[in-house]
Amino acid sequence: MARLCVVGTGYVGLVTGACLAGLGHGVRCVDVDSRKVEAINDGKSTIYEPGLGELVKRMVRAGRLCATTSYREALADADFTFICVGTPSQADGSTDLAYICEAGAMVADALAQRQKSKGKTAQARRHILIVKSTVPPGTTESLEPILREAGLPHVGLCMNPEFLREGNAVYDFMKPDRIVVGAMERKDAEAVMRLYSTVAAPKLKTDLRTAEMIKYASNSFLATKISFANELANMCEKFGVDVYDVADGMGHDRRIGRAFLNAGAGFGGSCFKKDVSALLHEVRHRGAEARILNAVLEINEAQPYRVVELLREALGPLTGARIALLGLAFKDNTDDVRDSAAIKVARALVDAGANVIAYDPQATANAKKELGPRIEYAASAAEALKGADACALVTEWPQFAKIPMRAFRKMKRPLVIEGRNVLDKKALKKAGIKYAGIGRKKF
Ligand code: UDX
Repeated sequence: MARLCVVGTGYVGLVTGACLAGLGHGVRCVDVDSRKVEAINDGKSTIYEPGLGELVKRMVRAGRLCATTSYREALADADFTFICVGTPSQADGSTDLAYICEAGAMVADALAQRQKSKGKTAQARRHILIVKSTVPPGTTESLEPILREAGLPHVGLCMNPEFLREGNAVYDFMKPDRIVVGAMERKDAEAVMRLYSTVAAPKLKTDLRTAEMIKYASNSFLATKISFANELANMCEKFGVDVYDVADGMGHDRRIGRAFLNAGAGFGGSCFKKDVSALLHEVRHRGAEARILNAVLEINEAQPYRVVELLREALGPLTGARIALLGLAFKDNTDDVRDSAAIKVARALVDAGANVIAYDPQATANAKKELGPRIEYAASAAEALKGADACALVTEWPQFAKIPMRAFRKMKRPLVIEGRNVLDKKALKKAGIKYAGIGRKKF
């Protein structure tokens, strides 16, 4: 068991802290937000994520997880610090590294104080500072001068990117496809890998910049796959071919793979757009171009509006039309609406004069913060559908597949526009419901 400090209790920080405690380590989280700290110490998760609340409760009770607002307290006896603070996008696509620098400086200060109070014995003990936040290549090594100035030659630097999907984060942490640790010194990478000794996964040791780049390259590639599928969808519509049948046919090729070839209203969430934009910015800054990534973002910007176009094609002008919007979250199993295609569709429909009544199993409260009273919110899918001129499905919640056909029949005009691939097309057809979807055959 190792003693760890985790800086930041946002999405990545809380999952990392709770899961590392779950692996048997002693974890102290530090955050400036005292409400988050109190909630964690009460055994509560501050975010909606399947399995996380239960894990936090269990780890706090077991005495393996706690939180504080004090860096000195969090670092009192830790041998490893994971930096998990936000790295938001700025208007030009560049990454705001202010929180990373601030966290680095606070950790350095607390370690310097600890060294002073413990004297020479503490000086000999190695501490490893690990950046987990997604940062442009070259960022982790830029923390070195901060450590040097604080007189901390015994502190090593590592970069350990996270590949956590919202809604599956605990599973992804415990059963990852790979673990990557970049380091300046091999012994530090080995020490960080030992923290994951009970996790079965391919383990890759690299230098710092390679680890940082692996994260950007992975997210950019996944985003590229989705935009490729979306461009393919728009082509398939022209040929009267179903894009999902094509994706299935492609996916059996092991060189391609079926995952992330699901066409629809486009990707959202806190990572893909941010990371692709950041990589584009960094590449341009170095005098190069990333043409594919430009196209990936361009295709994704347009994709939500395909849902609105399909509605217009079926209904004509949308002024006064009542549209049932199924889904508000950026994907299923989350209450997160950041960069959600559903929010973009809702806004575009309202701008076109439509009346929108939306239902989402988890994200209504967060959507209200974005859309306010511009749309209505239903307590169930059936309520949203009742009396609607059409329905637009924009989030891939699996429970939408269970909506009974009689609920669709309660629409004024039974017409469904699908921006994902959830509904049972055969059942809709049998029930006499008209259907069109992104890259799908109409009936
Ligand atoms: C992503 C990465 O998957 C994860 O590894 C990284 O660490 C953080 O970013 P996340 O944003 O939580 O995770 O969700 P993900 O499941 O990747 O989906 C992102 C978006 O792409 C969603 O809006 C989803 O609806 C969309 N998507 C996904 C598609 O449109 N088609 C697909 O085939 C897959």
